[in-house]
Amino acid sequence: MDNFEFRNPTKIVFGRSTEHQVGAEVAPYSRKILLHFGGGSIKQSGLYDRVTASLRAAGVEWVELGGVKPNPRLSLVHEGVKLCKQHQLGLVLAVGGGSTIDSAKAIAMGAMIEGDVWDFYLGKGAPQAALPIGTVLTIPAAGSEASTGTVITKEEGWLKRAVNSDLLYPRFSILNPELTFTLPPFQVACGAVDIMAHLMERYFTNVRDVAFTDRLIEATLKTIIAQAPKVLANPQDYDARAEFMWAGTIAHNNLLNTGRVGDWASHDIEHEISGIYDVAHGAGLAVVFPAWMKHVLHHDLDRFVQWAVRVWNVELDVFNPEAVAREGIARMEAFFRSLGIGTTLASLGIHDDRIAEMADKCTDGNARTVGNFVKLDRDAVAAILRLAQ
Ligand code: NZQ
Ligand code: ZN
Repeated sequence: MDNFEFRNPTKIVFGRSTEHQVGAEVAPYSRKILLHFGGGSIKQSGLYDRVTASLRAAGVEWVELGGVKPNPRLSLVHEGVKLCKQHQLGLVLAVGGGSTIDSAKAIAMGAMIEGDVWDFYLGKGAPQAALPIGTVLTIPAAGSEASTGTVITKEEGWLKRAVNSDLLYPRFSILNPELTFTLPPFQVACGAVDIMAHLMERYFTNVRDVAFTDRLIEATLKTIIAQAPKVLANPQDYDARAEFMWAGTIAHNNLLNTGRVGDWASHDIEHEISGIYDVAHGAGLAVVFPAWMKHVLHHDLDRFVQWAVRVWNVELDVFNPEAVAREGIARMEAFFRSLGIGTTLASLGIHDDRIAEMADKCTDGNARTVGNFVKLDRDAVAAILRLAQ
């Protein structure tokens, strides 16, 4: 196990009706905030009314900015930054999913600088300050409610890039599983795949003797495999929703990364797909992950066998480990399909061939490799995308 430091400062407020506490959670930080949300689901569900009533009751004023799109855009971030500066707002409250939270994080960084926040996404310097961020989560998926990450798309060139900083841990995140009852089945499925991807990015590591976190990751994967079908069969199943939601946060709050180094190539490759084609991140991952696995299988067959046996209940066959590993991958693909998600680029409606372009962008023109388990250059990324066709 590697040395590590672990701290996750995000306060989680979990359970039924907890959105009514949002005003009380916000007030200690600021009495004048930006209320940030997506395309309208929070208005249809009545959540907007409950959140604003709670803010009002706590004496918190707000300026609002809705309209965050999945794969959140830089132009809206710029609008949010302008509002924060103009009205001297003291906190950004995201009510929605990963896209809204990531947009809020970008605004929180941009509000503290004179220049363009996009520079951080290009790796030009690191943020030194950010406004406090709070969230009311409506979809278990990205894990942004307790992560250091934000992923934004710049429309010009359709570049999707990430920033990670400890400054971006939300101060609090409110998780009420009831708020997820209204999710369309496709979004539930995409969320399940994204959560599983966050777990598997961490599972496939070159660090030895990480048995404890292996077991935690396997348990969290098995939780999603067990609960996602229940949620799809009965959208009002509170207990299944609750297990799913909490597993989604734990999958990405870095606890399961302690003492080990994750891979993250599949995420980097997927960001090129959703950057160009604007597909849901989870749907893109369902295409990339199986292809990545087939490409890197022989790097550490034992690890794949362990995963196949423990997570997918494949019978161990010591004389044919490759068959065991491949059966694990086949069961994972079948699981994704059982949720209604395709596992090929064609299933995403992608029939043109921009593989060379995506591989080039992903590796900055072959100037860098992606992934840690296996370091992938431009040709390797292209080979994975071809396997995904
Ligand atoms: O915009 P509204 O109307 O709210 O609709 C959303 C959106 O269309 C809808 N939705 C959300 N909650 C709902 C609901 N509809 C009905 N009822 C509800 N309760 O679902 C759609 C998807 O929302 P979005 O926020 O895009 O989903 P998700 O949480 O999957 O976020 C995806 C984004 O997160 C990034 C992805 O790249 C992608 O841009 N990621 C962020 C990470 C991070 N910050 O740590 C890590 C992840 O790996 C990921 O890359
Ligand atoms: Zn993800």
